Amino acid sequence: MMSADAMMRTQTKQKGMNAAQLRLLVEGLRGYAVFMLGPDGCIANWNKGAERLLGHVVTEIVGHHFSRLYPREDVERGKPAQALRVAATGGRWEDEGWRVRADGSRFWSLAVVTKLPRGFLAVIQDITERERQEETERHALIGTMSAKFAHEIRNPLSSIKLNVGLVRYEIEALSKDNLAAGNEARSLLQSIDSELRRIQRVTQDYLKFARVSKSRREPVSLNDLLRQKLLFMRPEFEAAGVTVKTDFDETIPPVRLDADQFWQALLNSVVNANEAMSGGGTLTVSTAREGADTVVKIADTGKGMTEEQRRDIFKPFFSTKKTGTGLGLPLTQQIIIENGGRIDCESVLGKGTTFIIRFPQERRR
Ligand SMILES: Nc1ncnc2c1ncn2[C@@H]1O[C@H](COP(=O)(O)OP(=O)(O)OP(=O)(O)O)[C@@H](O)[C@H]1O
Ligand SMILES: [Mg+2]
Repeated sequence: MMSADAMMRTQTKQKGMNAAQLRLLVEGLRGYAVFMLGPDGCIANWNKGAERLLGHVVTEIVGHHFSRLYPREDVERGKPAQALRVAATGGRWEDEGWRVRADGSRFWSLAVVTKLPRGFLAVIQDITERERQEETERHALIGTMSAKFAHEIRNPLSSIKLNVGLVRYEIEALSKDNLAAGNEARSLLQSIDSELRRIQRVTQDYLKFARVSKSRREPVSLNDLLRQKLLFMRPEFEAAGVTVKTDFDETIPPVRLDADQFWQALLNSVVNANEAMSGGGTLTVSTAREGADTVVKIADTGKGMTEEQRRDIFKPFFSTKKTGTGLGLPLTQQIIIENGGRIDCESVLGKGTTFIIRFPQERRR
């Protein structure tokens, strides 16, 4: 599909397109915010689509810097400034990321900034639904494939285990006459056994992953749920040298979710956090409101990860651990999506990792 700014470029090049027609075209673009920026990044005009998508009305937003549309952490990282720099030098800048509406809620967007003779043209498209759809389809496909695969493996696996048991029995009988050979055979069987157990664990995890059931959602107080679950885990953490801190916003509204499923998902992140802090550290679990969203954060002061690793953590089988199956986080992500939320990760190598789970306010039907 042609991007909105490419469309505008070709349309304006066509003979006969005057300013009024161009305005009509821009106003008619549904699902897109199209607006111009001055050379300093201040918003110069604002179309109806922008008003619909971002919630600001023209009188209130024109004259403000476009960094207002970015989440605070992106502004701190200098993303808006980078967008202008790249567009000013290369002619065009494109990026997928969060944008913030007037009411503080966020949506996942595709944004393009194009250089004009004076200033820039900015186009923002809401791609939340597209992303969610793609993610759901991907998971459904992985789900069916993995269920079949795991089933195929399960049966031969139990028959192998059974036979290993029988062989062990035979060896015990035969090794009475030859102790050395008996010991050797026993230790070989032991390693076969431990490999078999590993395969069994992967298949079980995979089946769990493939069969995330439909969530039974009801309003849940996240603070109460987290308080209760963390209380049980605290001694285990403290024994591992990890201090657990909580920082709950008591004003967050109840979130409609399947509490058991949700805790299963969180537990994977909490276990990962614990594993990342082998030398001890602090686990901070917090809840907050961010605009219309309710947010849970799980932050550790562990070893963190590289940007490359961070990009792969939600892919099935990605693991940097010796005995990890790499299915913990894909399962977590699948559950969060099934419960109407979204999970993201920020990490700094050597410093720590934060998982951010965001539930948008449910639209009333
Ligand atoms: N809190 C964290 N700090 C640092 N790295 C992490 C953290 N959480 C996840 N990771 C990285 O992401 C990888 C994938 O995590 P995931 O939970 O999916 O699998 P795993 O922990 O390796 O294995 P398992 O299936 O046993 O959970 C980990 O191997 C690790 O490299
Ligand atoms: Mg894990």
